[in-house]
Amino acid sequence: MNILITGATRGIGKAIADSLNGNIFATGRNENLLKKFKNFIVCDLAKESDLEKLGKYIEDNNIDILINNAGEYIYSPIDNVKYFDIEHITRVNLEAPLYLISKAVPYMKKQKWGRIVNIGSISGVMGEACASLYSATKSGLIGSTKALALELAEFGITVNTINPGWVDTDMGNSSAEDGDWSKEEIVECIPQKRFVKPQEIAGMVKYLISEDAKGVTGQSINLCAGLSVGY
Ligand SMILES: NC(=O)c1ccc[n+]([C@@H]2O[C@H](COP(=O)([O-])OP(=O)(O)OC[C@H]3O[C@@H](n4cnc5c(N)ncnc54)[C@H](OP(=O)(O)O)[C@@H]3O)[C@@H](O)[C@H]2O)c1
Repeated sequence: MNILITGATRGIGKAIADSLNGNIFATGRNENLLKKFKNFIVCDLAKESDLEKLGKYIEDNNIDILINNAGEYIYSPIDNVKYFDIEHITRVNLEAPLYLISKAVPYMKKQKWGRIVNIGSISGVMGEACASLYSATKSGLIGSTKALALELAEFGITVNTINPGWVDTDMGNSSAEDGDWSKEEIVECIPQKRFVKPQEIAGMVKYLISEDAKGVTGQSINLCAGLSVGY
């Protein structure tokens, strides 16, 4: 199986790459960290020319499984937001995944099998103050997941989005620092009183790409240590 993972250099993407069996095609911006993979391509998802290169790479390599994991976070009150911020995060978190799906689907349709997994966020399901741009992009992934699941069901292609809560990665820890609460105060608000491990997200990806999960499509799955169900 040919599996392409965006943002495979660190955090959740790295945990996914480490846990899956198959030919991993890795991408990210950090070439040094990508060099450990046999197949890799450097790509800044915010740059149109890089994205087009990655689209071609997907077409050339018959990708069976696409994991749209890379993403960025912006913590900013709405009145401080610059037009660039809106444009940048929308490109990286929403436009790029949709574009990559458009490039992966023709091969999947031809072989009547495919798996697409997006990494969303609990912030796309619940509100997060001062994260409206991020929340908007992640909600967009959930909406497009439902539409694509319907469109692609007859071709044996499943499309799902996993919504992590706080995860113990660079992003999870730095976004905790960006906000008004300390990490200890955040943990206190999580029902399981802990950050999720990146390996737990990888475990869900492993399930969603398996044959056992062929009936699971169009779903938005919260993996958040209980955060989404109340306090
Ligand atoms: N950590 C959390 O608490 C949390 C919670 C909910 C959802 N998520 C979501 O989970 C996904 C992975 O997050 P993470 O916690 O693993 O983040 P992370 O530790 O910051 O890693 C982000 C990954 O995305 C890549 N990336 C970021 N911007 C990119 C760009 N412009 N072009 C190409 N690659 C880019 C990075 O690669 P390079 O540095 O090599 O470019 C890196 O591999 C994201 O979509 C995030 O929104 C995370």
